Amino acid sequence: MILKILFVGDAVGTPGVEYLSRGRLLSETKKKLGAHLAVVNGENSADGNGMTAASAEALLFAGADVVTGGNHTARRAEILSYLEDSDRVLRPSNLPGDFPGSGVACVTADGARVLVVNLIGQTYMDPANSPFETLSRILERERGEYDIAAVDFHAEATSEKYALARMFDGKVSVIVGTHTHVQTADCQILPGGTGYITDLGMTGSHSGVLGVKTERVIDRLVKHLPAKFEGSTGCEAAHGALFAIDTESGRCISAESVVF
Ligand SMILES: [Fe+2]
Repeated sequence: MILKILFVGDAVGTPGVEYLSRGRLLSETKKKLGAHLAVVNGENSADGNGMTAASAEALLFAGADVVTGGNHTARRAEILSYLEDSDRVLRPSNLPGDFPGSGVACVTADGARVLVVNLIGQTYMDPANSPFETLSRILERERGEYDIAAVDFHAEATSEKYALARMFDGKVSVIVGTHTHVQTADCQILPGGTGYITDLGMTGSHSGVLGVKTERVIDRLVKHLPAKFEGSTGCEAAHGALFAIDTESGRCISAESVVF
């Protein structure tokens, strides 16, 4: 059987969440593309960054089957108990310490058990345990419990993302990068059969700088003035990628970036 998974890049604030919900856009896009599952990065889905229970629930309601996190997941204290209770909203698996919630979810689509793993990078990011060792441990621990595995690697450095993808090429079906909010032009199938893109891009308003009002970012970067980041509005779009996977072999058979 061929299983299609749609990955959607970082949904930013109300513009990002509402864009996916309006007119049931995410659900309709899944149908149009024949996607069995949608995985949406939601670490910035609350206004002002971070994630709240309400923004996570809104993404699930819009059609996300799994919501992944990143470096801003713990920005709001209120999300911690929600993460503890949710089996569909993830935080990175390799966060240090005893962080609430889970970094893996196993969801079933058309009879196939899909293991979704959320990881965070170490390069130019806050301290984290090794994503390489963590993923090895998770795959070993979950062996026999899933048919295909897919990874959202939330990281800054393109080299770290690509290195992880090459290390696990052929061991997982898909690896996508998130966090930079800029979609890369390298959606591909690696030699071992893993579908890969360095970064999915972002979902929400593309009129500012990575989802933030342009003036606020310039104040911060040029004038070095304290500036509260405020979300931009207008020019909404969703950036992501669609992967088709042969569930018998676990190999990705098509990989394409999408904008909708
Ligand atoms: Fe991030």
